[in-house]
Amino acid sequence: MEFSIKSRSPEKQRGACVVVGVFDSRKLTQPAAALDKAANGYIAGILGRGDMNGDAGSSLLLQNVPGTLCDRVLLIGLGKEKEFHEKEFAKAIRTALKAINETGATDASIYLCELPVRKRSLAWRIRQSAMIAQEAAYKFEQFKSKKDDTRRPLKKLSFCVDRRSELPLAEEALAQGLAISEGMSLARDLGNLPPNICHPTHIAELAQAMAGEFKLDCEILERADMEKLGMHSLLAVAQGSHQPPKLIVLSHKGGKAGEKPVVLVGKGVTFDTGGISLKPAPDMDEMKYDMCGAASVLGTLRTVARLKLPINLTIIVPATENMPGGGATRPGDIVTSMSGQTIEILNTDAEGRLILCDALTYAERFDPDTVIDVATLTGACVVALGSVASGLFANKDALAHDLLDAGNEAHDRAWHMPLWDDYQELLKSPFADMGNIGGRWGGAITAACFLSRFTKKFRWAHLDVAGTAYKSGADKGATGRPVPLLAHYLMQRAGKLN
Ligand code: BES
Ligand code: MN
Ligand code: ZN
Repeated sequence: MEFSIKSRSPEKQRGACVVVGVFDSRKLTQPAAALDKAANGYIAGILGRGDMNGDAGSSLLLQNVPGTLCDRVLLIGLGKEKEFHEKEFAKAIRTALKAINETGATDASIYLCELPVRKRSLAWRIRQSAMIAQEAAYKFEQFKSKKDDTRRPLKKLSFCVDRRSELPLAEEALAQGLAISEGMSLARDLGNLPPNICHPTHIAELAQAMAGEFKLDCEILERADMEKLGMHSLLAVAQGSHQPPKLIVLSHKGGKAGEKPVVLVGKGVTFDTGGISLKPAPDMDEMKYDMCGAASVLGTLRTVARLKLPINLTIIVPATENMPGGGATRPGDIVTSMSGQTIEILNTDAEGRLILCDALTYAERFDPDTVIDVATLTGACVVALGSVASGLFANKDALAHDLLDAGNEAHDRAWHMPLWDDYQELLKSPFADMGNIGGRWGGAITAACFLSRFTKKFRWAHLDVAGTAYKSGADKGATGRPVPLLAHYLMQRAGKLN
């Protein structure tokens, strides 16, 4: 789909479809009133006959409205004007796209982005609209021999602003929304790919291709490199698999030389069987999503590179399978991590922390300003927060607040969880510096506590996205979260968030 920003009164707009809003009790928004005036009260007349009230989620399609230059006028119900907030705005855009797609219109001009939304700027409204449109258009059907043939004729979509002076700002916001969508669809594609195709080597090749496309620095560490570095915790997870593990590093250098980078670390377990601590069979296929952390940092990097943000960003992806087998790690094995700390592996299914700890230690060599890891780390986080919020942990409150703000702005929310020392003792082991599990209670927290032992040298946050990175059930699939949160955090840091 082609997107653009326009500034032209709706009655002078040519094309297949003009979309305007109506609040409840048939109150016309300003663009709707302008059309109505050009049409000599034709629209108000139709509403007066009771064909539409302006209820949220409703729509009414009119053809050949007199006095206008477009083929169709689509009225979108917005609900109560006083209650028109973020959620209602998003619903209006979704309703508009759905209704347009049910017509034969190949282009449409949407006049909903100038509607005031509490605490939200014009740039926010444009960004969100672009993201909603792209999200609605997402399909993953490369393995279907018959493609979805629902008619979707819409090719060109314009968001309309009141004043020409708003064009540059709106265009920047549109570019941001589209770049975030691009990062999200990469993350969704990677997550949705089956585990026989999306293995560590596949992710490494994709990273190399992206490095070529955007002129990024790329480094892939192989098993032998990890051995030299002493990454025995990561290697312990990989040793049961026939797929070679990869540690993938990609850097976007948009900031000043010498400026400390932000480092994003993403859990890349391309399939998590649990290892010798084997998972039960039902829904085990969903463990193909155990690389969604990796997918989200790759997606975020793509967004940042597309926007050429003036920041230095490095991503690190430890990628491996977690398989049982004759060579697999046993419960009770003790390994020495790259940091020198020893770990008793009591449960081979708590493998995410084992690969992340070595990747986090590796992050030290980039002299980072901030490190954020993203992982489908614990079922306990899903129990705590469901699929609404990602679990957020940080060793600096200011960083946690910046990330919470970014999540709220992006409508990709996180919730701040505790990292108090009181939880640390649950990781005690009689034989090594720590065990890799903390017992039955507070599982998302003890997992974060484990990681915190490897992040003492920098500002660090951890996002547990086990409940948010993908959906189960009928509309199963990767969501692309938390790309919007991370992208907003980085745009804010770059001074590009209007
Ligand atoms: N990848 C899983 C976590 C997970 C569970 C993600 C459900 C998405 C949905 C992780 O590797 C895991 O198995 N964690 C264990 C940890 C436990 C053994 C301490 C868990 O959550 O059960
Ligand atoms: Mn596991
Ligand atoms: Zn896992």
